[in-house]
This record gives sequence, structure tokens and C-alpha cells, in this order.
Amino acid sequence: MIKRLWAKLGKSSLPTADSLTLENIPQHVAIIMDGNGRWAKNRGLPRVAGHHSGMKTVKRITIAADRLGIKYLTMYAFSTENWKRPKSEVDFLMKLPQQFLEIELDELISNNVQVRMMGTREKLPQHTLYALEEAMRKTANNTGLVLNFALNYGSRMEMLDAVKEIAKDVQEGHITVDGIDDALMSSRLLSCDIPDPDLLIRTSGELRLSNFMLWQLAYSELWFTDVYWPEFTDKHFYGAIQEYQRRARRYGGL
Ligand code: IPE
Ligand code: IPE
Ligand code: MG
Repeated sequence: MIKRLWAKLGKSSLPTADSLTLENIPQHVAIIMDGNGRWAKNRGLPRVAGHHSGMKTVKRITIAADRLGIKYLTMYAFSTENWKRPKSEVDFLMKLPQQFLEIELDELISNNVQVRMMGTREKLPQHTLYALEEAMRKTANNTGLVLNFALNYGSRMEMLDAVKEIAKDVQEGHITVDGIDDALMSSRLLSCDIPDPDLLIRTSGELRLSNFMLWQLAYSELWFTDVYWPEFTDKHFYGAIQEYQRRARRYGGL
């Protein structure tokens, strides 16, 4: 089947045959998209220009992930701590989902992509929520790549909410303390119906998790690059996957 998204890409964007093993493609890739502000600053542009440019990278990497047959792509777009930024920047960031979906939704639909959101709806402006909910509704039955936006997401808040819910269930006698295990905890997180990430990518040279999927990343492979998100290309992405394929995942065994 010829996919319109891919039709736009030249052959040059294909990974070379010997660079990736198609049998060992990660099922779930999570990305901390970082460095938009610094990218803009280096060019004498306002920070928001970096966010605008970063949107194009989202599209680029969505296409690349879809093309490789990755099933879940989680993109950290806004953290629960990002509200600390100046209001003008937050306002700009909150308009991006709408802008992105206005341009891309039809193409996402025709490529069988399912859009999801992982985060707290509270505090999100109405227009941001509306755009995402429309996209989720229109793509709910799609069976291809799951494009999961972590928006107003914070791992500690996610875990605290899960713990409170579990505590309440214990209090009300629905579960016993001994019944609390890994699977139960996972099932109470916002990512409950998504497998843990196999690979985490962070751009911009920062070597930290910044409150992202702390529970789910327990055994994920981590890959960092100095490249800023707006200049992150499908080649960099394939490079990360290639490195992933060289790793031995032992999960504590031998
Ligand atoms: C990532 O880029 C986007 C968000 C956090 C929303 P930054 O805005 O953090 O860019 P830097 O890290 O300041 O360069
Ligand atoms: C993490 O980046 C959040 C997102 C990419 C959405 P930050 O730029 O907010 O992280 P810190 O502040 O450098 O840890
Ligand atoms: Mg940053």
C-alpha cells in the first residue's frame, strides 16, 4: 500500500538495508523533545520560533516511526512543571497541538494513525483540549501507529494519583494490600493500555528524565543526543534505533 506521507519522502531518507534489523524494531519509543529554546536562541530567534520549528520534527519522526512499523510513539510535549514558564511561552505551547492537528490530522487519519493524549486535562485551555479530543475521536478506530502526546504530564503526579486510587480500593475492601503488585500499579497509570517504552530518546544534551515515565522506563534503553529537537532528523532517529538494536536487554538476568 502506498502511503501518502511516505510518498513525499525520497529514497535518500530510507535507512540503508544493513543499518536496521527489521525483526528487532522497538515496539514503543518515547521521546523527550528538548532544546527548542536553545536552538532558537542560537539563531537569534525568539524561543517560540524553536517550538514552531519543533512541530515539523514531530511530523518527520511520526512518519519515520510509522514507516519502521513502530507501534507506539510517545512524545513529551509539555510537563506539569512547564507551567512555571512565562505565560506568553505557555500560551504559545498550548496553541501548538491545535496548529499541528489542523495541518496534519487528515494525513494522520489517512495513514491509520491513532492519536492519544497522556496527561491531566485539568488546567489545559479549552481550545487545546478540543483539538486533541477531536483528533482522538476521529482516529479512535485507527489501527496503525499510536501517536501518544504527553501533555501536562508528570510522572510523580501520575504515580501519586495511582497510589491514592489503590489506597482507596484497599480501604473499601476491593483489593488487599498483598494484591498490590507491578501489574496492578501499571494498570492504574495513564499508560495503562500501552506497553512500557523499549527505547527512550532525549535530545538537546540534557542527561535527565525530567519527571517523564519514571515507572514505565524501569528497563527501557536510554539514548541521548546533543542535537536540538528542531534539527533532529529521521537519520538521527534511525541512528538511535540502530544503537538500540546493538544493546543486550537482560532485565536483571544473565
Ligand atoms: C522543549 O524545548 C519543549 C518543551 C519543554 C515544551 P525547551 O523549550 O525546553 O528548549 P530548551 O531546553 O529551553 O532549549
Ligand atoms: C522536559 O523538558 C519536558 C518536555 C520536553 C516537554 P524541560 O526542558 O522542561 O526539562 P528540564 O527543565 O530541562 O529538566
Ligand atoms: Mg528544555
